[in-house]
Amino acid sequence: MNVLIIGAGYVGLSMGVVLAKSHVVTLVDIDESKVAMINRKESPIHERDMDDLLADAVSRNKIRAITPAEPFGRQNLVLICVGTPSMEDGSVDLSYVNKATDMVFERIEEILDDYCVIGIKSTVPPGTTRKFVSEKVARMGYMDKLGVVFNPEFLREGSAIADATNPDRIIIGASDYKASQVLKKLYQEVLGDAANNVIVISLESAELCKYVNNAFLATKISFANEIANITERVSGADIDEVMRAVGEDSRISPKFFGSGAGYGGSCFPKDVAGLISFAEKNLGIATHVLRAIQLVNSERPARIVNLLLEELPSLKGKKVSVLGLAFKPGTDDTRESPALKIIDLLHEHGAEVWAHDPLVHEMDLGNLAKKAQLTDNLEECLNNSAACVLVTEWEEYIQRGLAGLTELMQGNLLIDGRRVFTDAEIPESVSYRTIGQS
Ligand SMILES: NC(=O)c1ccc[n+]([C@@H]2O[C@H](COP(=O)([O-])OP(=O)(O)OC[C@H]3O[C@@H](n4cnc5c(N)ncnc54)[C@H](O)[C@@H]3O)[C@@H](O)[C@H]2O)c1
Repeated sequence: MNVLIIGAGYVGLSMGVVLAKSHVVTLVDIDESKVAMINRKESPIHERDMDDLLADAVSRNKIRAITPAEPFGRQNLVLICVGTPSMEDGSVDLSYVNKATDMVFERIEEILDDYCVIGIKSTVPPGTTRKFVSEKVARMGYMDKLGVVFNPEFLREGSAIADATNPDRIIIGASDYKASQVLKKLYQEVLGDAANNVIVISLESAELCKYVNNAFLATKISFANEIANITERVSGADIDEVMRAVGEDSRISPKFFGSGAGYGGSCFPKDVAGLISFAEKNLGIATHVLRAIQLVNSERPARIVNLLLEELPSLKGKKVSVLGLAFKPGTDDTRESPALKIIDLLHEHGAEVWAHDPLVHEMDLGNLAKKAQLTDNLEECLNNSAACVLVTEWEEYIQRGLAGLTELMQGNLLIDGRRVFTDAEIPESVSYRTIGQS
């Protein structure tokens, strides 16, 4: 199959290299530097196995990247994977999807042979695919030649290739049977048995299910974090023990019950906000649970900093090291990372903040650039600091252990924002605080 992917970001590029195992993929992106990198076999994002898959696909001429200025060629399937960021009021910015779909329809004669399916993979509110794609297809009178799908993506940054190769299930929101079969075949040719669990539903159900999925996972995290606040005040109780025991109930599952600095990244914050905005503004439905999820999550950075303040009430002029900037290990993505809010708060308290991350070497820190010194050298980050706050659970930090992390510090206080050392022996030389235990 010839597949045109619009938007070569985390989703577009990850899907592209996986689909290129069996199909011919053309990636279109407005970012010329990204396009050039991909064609040079250099991945613009950090993902396990990405470099090898990309190099292999480019060498076999199964993938190429182009800008919109170049010819698209005949395609069997178009997948729109552009960003859908939050607007300031939490609603979803659909301008990229709008431009991308307009571009596809403007060039439909170039793309279309006998039959082509146009699909949206970006996370969009219910009704978007119908409005931006199906209605245009109907207006053009192309119902026999163009199928329409919404195919939500569930890959996680940090394990994007593994997730795209082995999905729990494939959801296809489809305008009709023929369109759904094209997607089914696309995945089955690449993934074989791993594509057996295909659920075909309406466009709107598929659009909504992506938001509900992320909102439910965010709910589990915020719920565990609220319970962590409770266990901190219950002498003898420990959040991990409680949630592990609760998770063994087969109706519940222990996954996504990790308490810590809160969820971040490009999806959970914006998708919870997007669902709230859709429900409240478009439907007039109050979202009490969803708003509580946001509130609990927004309090996490301050709770981590409070642990530090309980031990060191004045941070004025003191060096504090922040370990981890990416919103989770395995990625260099810092979008909505709790580390950024923690740096902000430490700076407000007068600390001299140093930050380290194994993958984030430079970043658009915005205002934060003035608030923290970023270094690639972990020793330099820790050297002479009064305290250290572990925010992202990178293996490098876990391997060093408590003694290894604190030996260069002037002080001995380590705040474990991810509970990675709760089972470790705490050396006498280390002052250790974490969330969720008294
Ligand atoms: N990142 C994830 O883990 C993830 C997981 C599941 C779903 N999603 C959803 O997938 C969508 C894409 O997310 P992402 O993280 O890949 O975004 P991203 O920001 O990494 O990539 C989007 C890409 O689209 C390009 N682009 C924008 N407008 C374009 C246009 N008109 N033509 C061509 N290219 C254009 C941008 O230059 C960028 O490279 C979002 O809706 C997101 O919510 C993301």
